[in-house]
Amino acid sequence: MKRARKSEVVRAPSIAYRRMTRNTASAELVCDGIPLAQLVERYGTPLYVYSSEMIRARMKAFARAFRSIPHTLCYSVKANSTLAILQLVERVGAGFDVVSGGELERVGRMKKTAARNVVFSCVGKTVPEMELALKSGILLFNIESASELGALAATSARLRKIAPVAVRVNPDVSAKTHPYISTGLQKHKFGVPIPEARELYAEAARQPYLKVSGVSVHIGSQISDVSSFADALTRVVDLVRDLRRLGHDIRYVDAGGGLGISYEGTQADFQEQILAYANAVLRPLKDLDVHLLLEPGRSIVGAAGVLLTRVIYKKTNNSKRFLIVDAGMNDLLRPALYSAHHEIVAVQRSSSAIEVADVVGPVCETGDFFARGRELPATREGDLLAILDAGAYGSALGSNYNTRGRPAEVLVDGKQARVIRKREMFHDQVRLERL
Ligand code: LLP
Repeated sequence: MKRARKSEVVRAPSIAYRRMTRNTASAELVCDGIPLAQLVERYGTPLYVYSSEMIRARMKAFARAFRSIPHTLCYSVKANSTLAILQLVERVGAGFDVVSGGELERVGRMKKTAARNVVFSCVGKTVPEMELALKSGILLFNIESASELGALAATSARLRKIAPVAVRVNPDVSAKTHPYISTGLQKHKFGVPIPEARELYAEAARQPYLKVSGVSVHIGSQISDVSSFADALTRVVDLVRDLRRLGHDIRYVDAGGGLGISYEGTQADFQEQILAYANAVLRPLKDLDVHLLLEPGRSIVGAAGVLLTRVIYKKTNNSKRFLIVDAGMNDLLRPALYSAHHEIVAVQRSSSAIEVADVVGPVCETGDFFARGRELPATREGDLLAILDAGAYGSALGSNYNTRGRPAEVLVDGKQARVIRKREMFHDQVRLERL
């Protein structure tokens, strides 16, 4: 008789422990059924692993939650810009939110025609970036200042290409999130205060190659209180009505991204959370007759990725215990930059014993840590750990600090796992340098 294998979900639906034997704590961590230890054997550490199934499920949950209104999900490339991830979301219908010419080039490299569904936000778009976006025929430029509007008016006239524009407004709404990733208050560099935005629309309408098309807003990231979205959208809707009264043809409302994920939880409540989010966004838009654009990043890919790392050494300084792992702040910057919390679990669990330790990388910075004073599964040198929820702003924020090569990245899709980014070698790093 086949023995039923119990599994314990860590991040629904894809990351789970699979028990190895019946009644023990011993279990191995899998991604859509593929043991992560097996992927490490093949590809080494540190290693990013992503679940296609989870990314698709998130995309579909968004589409379902917003099905009552015409909309496009413009996946935010900055969250994870690896080409195969872009391809995965494009294949389930995504457009893209880009913030640089480089990100736009990534979208074009993935699929030439995908630029048609690109929105371009950024406080400092350069003229060459505008030229690239105009030639690619993007959906919308989100303009963030009078000077930028002037530059786009001149560039589009010179190229004789129509630029569809929205003004990204700064609604002066608190996102109640980490100050570094909050963008919608008057003191932040982002967007244009609403009264000034009205003037920019008037100016845009006077420009022969600018086509007023929408209003855009983005108030920050990792937002858990959805009432902030409702507040921002309420202000945007008032503006849309005013602009329409003045004769502007506003087709699009771009509500930005920002929906948070639960870094401490099991994500089991994702459906609920996305419905609450959809409710907050949709209620103010009722009867407005617009095409909604959304720019989710983290909520699509965050929980779908893990960073696997090996414990190289254990050491105790006085009474403080450290696990020194082979991933560093250059691979996953979030804890160092924002004191962000990421759960850390054993890849192969053999007992329920725990110990308290700091998990630190090998980089020469005190800020190079993944957890401090954390209760962790008892670990030996050589053991593997998984840092959870590393799919968003993990590899994308990576660097070569300390001349460390970036990790390889693997995408699990059904029963297959394939390398979507090779491990970076020393020669990759020095390729552009000259002696
Ligand atoms: N749209 C715009 C204009 C944005 O600036 C951002 C994020 C997004 C969309 C996507 O937001 P999301 O849905 O991912 O929250 N590195 C930080 C997050 C920075 C977010 C920057 N902008 C972190 O690791 O928490």
